[in-house]
Amino acid sequence: MPEKETIYILAIESSCDDTSVAVLKNNSVLSNVVANQQIHEEYGGVVPELASRAHQQNIVPVTNKALAKANIDKKQLSAIAFTRGPGLMGSLLVGTSFAKSMALGLDIPLIEVNHMQAHILAHFIDDEKMKAPTFPFLALTISGGHTQIVRVNDYFKMDILGQTLDDAVGEAFDKSAKILGLPYPGGPLIDKYAALGNPTKFEFPKPKVKELDFSFSGLKTSILYFIQKNTAENPDFIKENLEDICASIQYTIVNILMDKLKKAIKKTGIRKVAVGGGVSANSGIRKALLDAQDKLGWAVYIPKFEYCTDNAGMIGIVGYLKYKNADFVNHDISAKARYVI
Ligand code: KG4
Ligand code: ZN
Repeated sequence: MPEKETIYILAIESSCDDTSVAVLKNNSVLSNVVANQQIHEEYGGVVPELASRAHQQNIVPVTNKALAKANIDKKQLSAIAFTRGPGLMGSLLVGTSFAKSMALGLDIPLIEVNHMQAHILAHFIDDEKMKAPTFPFLALTISGGHTQIVRVNDYFKMDILGQTLDDAVGEAFDKSAKILGLPYPGGPLIDKYAALGNPTKFEFPKPKVKELDFSFSGLKTSILYFIQKNTAENPDFIKENLEDICASIQYTIVNILMDKLKKAIKKTGIRKVAVGGGVSANSGIRKALLDAQDKLGWAVYIPKFEYCTDNAGMIGIVGYLKYKNADFVNHDISAKARYVI
């Protein structure tokens, strides 16, 4: 009997402000190198023009590092997978062009990957610390760029049930933090202070959005007005109440997410929830999900943190799944800033 082919995928992620390259052997990750771009910190958010320039500088050294860490020679690679979209056009173009030239140079297949599918399919990376959900399941993808609830019927059969109409949930954290004078990205800091505060001290209105969609821009505005009003009366209001303000903001955001998830479960009858995206690091959302697992009988899946934030490991697992289907693309492919699942 012929030996089963070993598939080596080199995967490239450059959709936003992280340059990442991974090498996979079948469905396991041999290396997953991420270069974060500190440059955006001083601007309080991602500057697209600077992001694409930084990708341009990072992409070759990050690729070399990923190959070296995996102890794989590029001649062993079976295919190149890359993020085609959605994301920032200037950033996507760097990864797309690099992937094309590498596949062309090595004369191996090229595989395009939808970044949002990759966040979801990251659950299928073979890792002793992770358990993959069975189909169908619900995926909650929450990050600085995305907020989506997706019904996942099969690897490549997904239906978006709800998504944000304006800001992503990570932006809600980061913009609230900015109002409080905290540095970017403020999400982790809100989480840190929230742990020490009273979550019901201040009340913020929950948006009224139909069905399973989300909206966070109104919350940001109400926090801004709340802070302006209170600091006009007491200039030290933020300093004196930082922990309670953060706890109350986090409590509101977690409730918004949990309410929609409950609605999605009621609507679909599916009780399996797989989360992804950087905001799944938030201790409030983790606790709420694990409580729901204990008390409501949900099955909750949270990947390792390195596969939650933007990373090429998740692009690689999609590359592997598509390779098995011989789902390749030609070299005339172009990046897609808007790319629906
Ligand atoms: O997935 P990610 O690394 O990048 C993309 O946005 O695609 O997510 C980053 C986002 C930021 O908005 C950051 O503030 C948020 O995730 N974040 C958190 C926490 N850790 C990261 N938000 C709240 N609590 C956290 N612990
Ligand atoms: Zn992402």
